[in-house]
Amino acid sequence: MAAAAPVVELKQITKRFPGIVANDSISIKLHKGEIHALLGENGAGKSTLMNILFGLYQPDEGHIEINGQSVAIDSPNKAIDLGIGMVHQHFKLVQPFTVTENIILGMEPSKGGVQIDYKTASEKVKQLSDQYGFRVDPNAKIEDISVGMQQRVEILKTLYRGANILIFDEPTAVLTPQEISELIEIMRRLVAEGKSIILITHKLKEIMSVSDTVTIIRRGKVIDTVKTNETSPSQLAEKMVGRNVSFKVDKTPAQPKEKIIQVNNVSIKNKDGISLLDGMTFDVHAGEIVGVAGVDGNGQTEIIEALSGLRKIDSGSIVLNGKEIGSHTPRQISEAGVGHIPEDRHKHGLVLDFSVSENMVLESYYKQPYTKRGFLNFRAINDLAKRLVESFDVRTPSIHTKARSLSGGNQQKAIIAREINKNPDFLIAAQPTRGLDVGAIEFVQTQLIRQRDQGKAVLLVSFELDEILNVSDRIIVVYEGKVIGEVRPEETNDQELGLMMAGSRQGGIKA
Ligand SMILES: Nc1ncnc2c1ncn2[C@@H]1O[C@H](COP(=O)(O)OP(=O)(O)OP(=O)(O)O)[C@@H](O)[C@H]1O
Ligand SMILES: [Mg+2]
Repeated sequence: MAAAAPVVELKQITKRFPGIVANDSISIKLHKGEIHALLGENGAGKSTLMNILFGLYQPDEGHIEINGQSVAIDSPNKAIDLGIGMVHQHFKLVQPFTVTENIILGMEPSKGGVQIDYKTASEKVKQLSDQYGFRVDPNAKIEDISVGMQQRVEILKTLYRGANILIFDEPTAVLTPQEISELIEIMRRLVAEGKSIILITHKLKEIMSVSDTVTIIRRGKVIDTVKTNETSPSQLAEKMVGRNVSFKVDKTPAQPKEKIIQVNNVSIKNKDGISLLDGMTFDVHAGEIVGVAGVDGNGQTEIIEALSGLRKIDSGSIVLNGKEIGSHTPRQISEAGVGHIPEDRHKHGLVLDFSVSENMVLESYYKQPYTKRGFLNFRAINDLAKRLVESFDVRTPSIHTKARSLSGGNQQKAIIAREINKNPDFLIAAQPTRGLDVGAIEFVQTQLIRQRDQGKAVLLVSFELDEILNVSDRIIVVYEGKVIGEVRPEETNDQELGLMMAGSRQGGIKA
C-alpha cells in the first residue's frame, strides 16, 4: 500500500520582502498525527512561512498541497475551509466578550435565520473543551481569565471551525511553566485524536519533549529535517545558529556597591480595593543582578509599573540614588537613570509604525545630539540606529524599516539595545529573553552581566527559572504582592524555588 500523502506539503516556497528573502525555496512535509517543530533564529522566516500557509501572505514562488491536492490559499478563510487553524502569539480576542461569543465571532450560527443561537454554540464549546481537557468555561468573560486560558480559547476557536491542521506560533512564550506543561498535554491529546500540528518554539526542551520531527531554518533556508528522537538539544542549537551554544553564561561573583534603588513597604490596591502590592520591600545595589522569582500575578507587573512610573503607588516609597521617585512620571524616571525593558513590547516598548531608527530615540529625541537648534538631527539619529542594530545584531533590512515588519525576536533585541544604550544606573529587565533564539538569549544575558560589571543595578524579572538561576546574584521570591524570601542561586535549585513560589516559607528565608 502506498503511504498516505502528507496532510500538508510546502513545496519550494519563496517569499521576498524589500531587502530580504524571508523564505528561500522551503520544502516541508507534515504528516497526519505528527507534531512538526520549526526551529530557527530570530528572523529566520518561520512566522512568514506559517502566514503563507494560513493565507495571510502569498508566496512569490512554490506551491502548497493539502492531502496531495494542490491548493491556492489566498485568504485565511480559504485556509479555514481547508481545515487549517492558526494560534497567533498575540491573541485576537475581544476582552469584554464571553468565551463563546469570541469563538462564534464572525460565524454565528443562526436559528431560523436571524437570531444568534448562543446556547447551541456554548454547548458545542463545552463539549469540545471537555473532549480535549481544556477546562474552559464557555460563559466566562475573556478579561476575567488567565493568559493560558485565553490561549485555549484561541485553540478552541480553530477546533470549532473544524481545523485538523493546527499552527502554533510560539505558543509558550507568554505562558508560565505550569501552563506550558498543560499546553504540552493538550497538544498530545490533539494529535492522539488525529490532528496534525506545526509548532514554532525557541525552547529546545519543549521540542525534545513534544515533537516528532524538527525542521531547522536559517536565514530563510531549510538546513535540515531530523527525527526528534535522533537528535539532541546541542545538535539542534548548532544546526540553528551554525556554532556551539553554551546554554550557560559565564560570570564572576558580583561586587555589589552602594544601594541604587530602595523599594520600601510599597502597597498598591486596585479599584476594587484588592491588594496588588502588599508592603513590597527590597533593594538593588550597584554591581548586582537581583532576580525576581514568582508565579505570574503575584505583583511582578505592578512593581515594574511602579518602578517605571506607569502606576501610582498608594503607600510606601521608592528611592533612587537617595531621591524619592514614587510619584514621578515615566519621563522623569527615565531621566533620573532608570532603563526599562518592558514585558509587553507592543504596548510599552515600540511604536510599530515608526522606523527602527525612530524607535531608537523614542525617549531621547528631544535631547542633544538628536535635536539640534530645535530640529531633529537625522544624521545623529541614524548613526545611533546603525550602531545599535550592528552591535545588538538586530536583523532588519534597513534602519528605515518599520518596527512592525521586524520578526518578534528582532523587535525585542531593538528595545534591549535602546535601553542598554541609555546607560541607566538602574535597569529593569522584564522577561528580557522572551521570544529570543538560544543564540540571542546567550547574547542578552551576557549584556545584562556586562551592565552589572560596569556597576549598574539590574532587576531581572523572568518566568524562566533557569534564567533566574543562571543570571542573578541574588533571588527574591514574591508571593501575593510581597517578598517572602531571599536565596542565593548557588544555594538553591528549581525545586526549592518552586516551593517558595507556591508560598511555602522555607529555604534561606530572610524576610
Ligand atoms: N510584512 C513584512 N514586511 C517586510 N519584511 C517582513 C515582513 N514580515 C517579515 N519580514 C521580514 O522577514 C524576515 C523573516 O521574519 P519572520 O517574522 O518570518 O521571522 P521568524 O523566524 O518568525 O523570527 P522570530 O523568531 O523572531 O519570530 C525578517 O527579516 C523580517 O524582518
Ligand atoms: Mg516569528
